[in-house]
Amino acid sequence: MKFFIDTANLEQIKEAEALGVLDGVTTNPSLMAKEGITGEANIIQHYVDICEAVEGDVSAEVISTDYEGMIAEGEKLAALNPQIVVKLPMIKDGVKACKYFSSKGIRTNVTLVFSAGQALLAAKAGATYVSPFIGRLDDISTDGLNLIEEIRMIYDNYGFKTEILAASVRHTMHILNCAKIGADVMTGPLSAIEGLLKHPLTDSGLAKFLEDYAKGN
Ligand code: E4P
Repeated sequence: MKFFIDTANLEQIKEAEALGVLDGVTTNPSLMAKEGITGEANIIQHYVDICEAVEGDVSAEVISTDYEGMIAEGEKLAALNPQIVVKLPMIKDGVKACKYFSSKGIRTNVTLVFSAGQALLAAKAGATYVSPFIGRLDDISTDGLNLIEEIRMIYDNYGFKTEILAASVRHTMHILNCAKIGADVMTGPLSAIEGLLKHPLTDSGLAKFLEDYAKGN
């Protein structure tokens, strides 16, 4: 299972990279704005900086909602660095653009996916990654993990190569449950990744080992 961090915060990205378990980064316009990164030139430079900070895939989202605009933007983003994965919204022109990029060998992440039907279309269009937003489904009393299960079944039925990127992950149980279901990737905040570390028996066990070691020294 790949671990992506879902942030545009460079410090957090570097911290997750330093942990040695990071496979990539996802961003979106809201995450950029949260870090105060605005304007095309600054956003482009930030993608370059993120690519320098990590070894894995970096999803960079287009802002255009029409086919021609998405192609122009996506080609510009993909040319920045081979690590870039062009992130496209799950709308009609996004599906067409996904097909275009897949025929050109440019990797894509189809985002804002909330149904199995949308995920099937993304796979048919040759998406590298499909991003079902499980947290946002949970927010409206709909089981996000159930969507991951449905997509897993559909992709396995037909051997689709598109990787299921569980997005909008909010906490450690999302990560664990996605791992049980067989999501290929999860993207979440640093707090959720670091949450996997925690266990009180580890902390008390280590404290006791150190205490006992100190007795003999
Ligand atoms: C995915 O790529 C999105 O950036 C993200 O996971 C959305 O998460 P949110 O629902 O916490 O905003």
